[in-house]
Amino acid sequence: MLAHTHSGLRWIALILLVYAVINALSRKGSGEFSKKDKMVNLFAMVTLHVQLVLGLILYFTSGKVNFGQGWMKEDLFRFYGMEHFAGMLAAIVLVTIGYSKAKRSEAAIQKHKYTLTFYALGLILILAFIPWPFRTALGGNWF
Ligand code: HEM
Repeated sequence: MLAHTHSGLRWIALILLVYAVINALSRKGSGEFSKKDKMVNLFAMVTLHVQLVLGLILYFTSGKVNFGQGWMKEDLFRFYGMEHFAGMLAAIVLVTIGYSKAKRSEAAIQKHKYTLTFYALGLILILAFIPWPFRTALGGNWF
């Protein structure tokens, strides 16, 4: 149930992140940073924070996290116990830094630039550390 929610929520997180990146790119030259721009960025960040909370609960309950002997040599256990956790955490930290740097900037163009840089980096990391079904050793699904 929790794993399903966490798995399905990836799509909302990805759509919002892609939307925020495209929005920052296309609004950069406009000279303004509207309430809508702020909301797009906020929703993307909040969805990631929800993923973090769900992920942390899964980290202590999922059978895919197992620190038994030799866990680093097992692709599945190494991925969920370390790679997925560290990669996603780094991505969420980047997006959060981007959001707060944008918030604290004065100029609209600077707000969009911070969003663009940090959200795009976060997006790349997230795409890299999702257990896509074609990475067969990881037992992931599409939803
Ligand atoms: C943007 C953030 C994240 C995204 C998009 C994401 C996405 C996913 C996806 C797609 C799965 C595969 C589920 C499946 O196919 O069955 C998964 C599983 C899992 N994730 Fe995340 N995750 C994120 C963050 C985290 C974090 C920060 C943690 C740990 C603190 C975490 C822990 C786990 C665990 C333990 C599983 C295995 C669940 C199971 O099937 O038992 N995730 N995650």
